[in-house]
Amino acid sequence: MDAIRIEGRRRLRGTIHVSGAKNAILPALTAALLTDEEVCLANVPGVRDVDTMLKVLEHLGAEWSRRGDRVTVRLGRLLHPEAPYDLVRTMRASVLVLGPLVARHGQARVSMPGGCAIGARPVDLHLDVLRALGAEVRQEHGYIEARAGRLRGASYTFDRITVTGTENAMMAASLAEGRTVLRNCAQEPEVSDLAELLTRMGAQISGAGTDTIRIEGVESLGGAEHRVVPDRIEAGTFVCAAALAGDEVVIQGCRPEHLSALLQRLTGCGINLEVGVDAITIRGGGGFTSADVSTRPYPGFATDLQAQYMVLMTQASGAAVIAETIFENRFMHVQELQRLGADIRCEGHNAFVKGPRSLSGAPVMATDLRASACLILAGLVASGETLVRRVYHLDRGYDRIEEKLRGLGAEMERIKE
Ligand code: UD1
Repeated sequence: MDAIRIEGRRRLRGTIHVSGAKNAILPALTAALLTDEEVCLANVPGVRDVDTMLKVLEHLGAEWSRRGDRVTVRLGRLLHPEAPYDLVRTMRASVLVLGPLVARHGQARVSMPGGCAIGARPVDLHLDVLRALGAEVRQEHGYIEARAGRLRGASYTFDRITVTGTENAMMAASLAEGRTVLRNCAQEPEVSDLAELLTRMGAQISGAGTDTIRIEGVESLGGAEHRVVPDRIEAGTFVCAAALAGDEVVIQGCRPEHLSALLQRLTGCGINLEVGVDAITIRGGGGFTSADVSTRPYPGFATDLQAQYMVLMTQASGAAVIAETIFENRFMHVQELQRLGADIRCEGHNAFVKGPRSLSGAPVMATDLRASACLILAGLVASGETLVRRVYHLDRGYDRIEEKLRGLGAEMERIKE
């Protein structure tokens, strides 16, 4: 098992490049199931979730090839309409094959994702919206089984905002008969990115990026080429790293407007930021103050940046309340940060962080994807050596993170334990 060893307190300087978004490429890959033509995706990040999704597609019968940051997928003939447990349990986003399979092939069998480190994360809304579109959905033997003739457009309001639920519904409705109106939709940039790809494939979608999406179903979709949007969570992680340990760092190739909730908060804390069209420059080194945060669906503060922001607050002057409102049990990183010397107290959905505290390096354990990123950031500011164990979580969603941070002057290496 790999671990990352960090020698802390090195100042960061230079330019760091943002990869394509993990949360955009995963639905984009499953959109390829909606057509028998080729879908070519560019700016594909080198992360393990992409490898897992390609395995899922391969199991279904798709052929794919990868060259550099481009992946081409084509599903000529469906072999098995099934996403098996062994793959789904390692990546919940496998549930994104459900909508496309039912819509184009009339059947799908997807393993129930089960629990994960950051809470229960049910998929009831995915199933509910497919039923509204006319699919018959059952749960049996740990699998979701869905069947349908041609889906029928419907008017549907999501009970809660769900990102992949909105994406599944949008893909399914693209091939349904007639008009679908989805309300209370997720407005994340990754939803808009998927709508852009589907539109290139011939879908008729309007309103993606707002809370109401309208889809006029079409008979069939064709191939397309698409460049996935930059990863706002990776960019936000680098922003936090630069604010913590940077002299002057340029985060290049991002979409700053997708990070406005984070950037606004940091400016309020007194962190020196300069925002360009596709880059953010951060001049760290000075002190900054605390600010409270509450995670919200986009355009609110991303839950996927909550752990990284918490590290920042351990170094800020004053006290901050960080409220996690999207997921239960998403404070697994707190105990590890406490081991490094952070002053954090948790009460229900709130974490109370007092800063600034001097952190000192120690072995720590990553528990999920974003918690791993938070421990890497903590290692950058802690004195001495921090060993982050179980970095396979990190590899699910970060493209060559240690290589990128080393390029800024961080002292870190991957070791086999
Ligand atoms: C996506 C992101 C993930 C991010 C999350 C919230 C991808 C691949 N993953 O996950 O990185 O942390 O959005 O921004 O895009 N819920 C239900 N029933 C459902 C579906 C969701 O109750 O059927 C609940 C969840 O338990 C959670 C909330 O809704 O409390 C939001 O979850 P959701 O937006 O669905 O997260 P994902 O799409 O799985």
